[in-house]
Amino acid sequence: MFQTSPARSLAPPLPSFPSLTDALRAYSGDDHINVLYPHRIAAAADSFVRGLPGRTLYAVKANPHPEVLRAAWAGGVRAFDVASLREIDLVQSLFPDAALYLMHPVKSRRTIREGYGRGVRDFSLDCEDELAKILEETNGARDLRLHVRLALPKAGGVMPLAGKFGASAKDAAELLRAARPHAASLGVCFHVGSQCLDLDAYDRALAHARAVVERSGIAIDGVDIGGGFPVAYPDMDHRPWEDYFAAIRASLRAHGFDGLDVLGEPGRAICAAGGATLARVELRKGTDLYLNDGTYGTLFDAGHFAWKYPVRLLRDGPPEPAANTVGFRFFGPTCDSADTMAGPFHLPADTREGDWIEIGQLGAYGQTLATQFNGFHSDHTVIITEDAQT
Ligand SMILES: Cc1ncc(COP(=O)(O)O)c(C=O)c1O
Repeated sequence: MFQTSPARSLAPPLPSFPSLTDALRAYSGDDHINVLYPHRIAAAADSFVRGLPGRTLYAVKANPHPEVLRAAWAGGVRAFDVASLREIDLVQSLFPDAALYLMHPVKSRRTIREGYGRGVRDFSLDCEDELAKILEETNGARDLRLHVRLALPKAGGVMPLAGKFGASAKDAAELLRAARPHAASLGVCFHVGSQCLDLDAYDRALAHARAVVERSGIAIDGVDIGGGFPVAYPDMDHRPWEDYFAAIRASLRAHGFDGLDVLGEPGRAICAAGGATLARVELRKGTDLYLNDGTYGTLFDAGHFAWKYPVRLLRDGPPEPAANTVGFRFFGPTCDSADTMAGPFHLPADTREGDWIEIGQLGAYGQTLATQFNGFHSDHTVIITEDAQT
């Protein structure tokens, strides 16, 4: 039988502090510190559970840390978008009654078989070969809920997710017809792209979904609008989520999806603000800061996509940080020169060796992507319970 590590959910509670300064004072390690703010995650989850016009599935991939899952649960999330058996096991080890949706369009046969055995009934797919795999591995089960993933003609996210998954309009219409006789419930799903600042992207996607459904001549039961809801990063302003919820509600009505089962799969929006990295300056050369975390750690997107993150200096002891700021470039701890983050990251002009920097909005696709390359990684995760400025 497939083995995963339930140990994570049985692990001792994380150290918890009212502020980052308290967490730093208690720390004698040499690695960066992973920070979680569970109350922020619970608040974001609550916004979606209350506001999204449909059921909120938390996309576990964004951050599978048990503390993040618990916070999402505390915010009212009861359903999860999972991609693998390990994610299924992790969620079930914490919440045996959670609803699980396997929304990865390409799954191993074993994942389908054992996922079904563990209670999963919702599967996404984007081609007839995947449909055949699902039917074979579930022995032609009669209680499947199938979601046909659509390719979108025009995506909307800063981080596009087009190209890898999704059926064209023609193929999706055929797939809907092929899947209908086998599905207890049949729907369409899509992803507009992550960090979607373009409010109209959901309307375009729903219009496209309607056209595909018309083309198929098949009645469907549901629509899954995916993730993509944005969060605040420097230089990336976004409209409030409430505007997205209202626009999506209107688009569902306008495109004839009223009364169907509606699902949404936010990942980034639930957990980005709920995580940060505390990194220490090991050396300063002009406006270059060498840190004890980098692109092989929690800062992948800061390097590979040159994303900027909010930063703030924490110095324990005199002198107070300078009031004027300078734009810095960051380098991570590994020997690889790709471990470079262009920024610029604006910090006090006298930032120096030994200072700690909080790099924010890393709760999604930050801590999750960290490797152990070159021996640099951190097992030290702390909970911060308050939003004070220290
Ligand atoms: C199928 C699916 N659902 C949901 C998400 C979460 O998207 P986001 O973090 O942009 O909300 C992703 C991200 O890759 C995805 O692939």
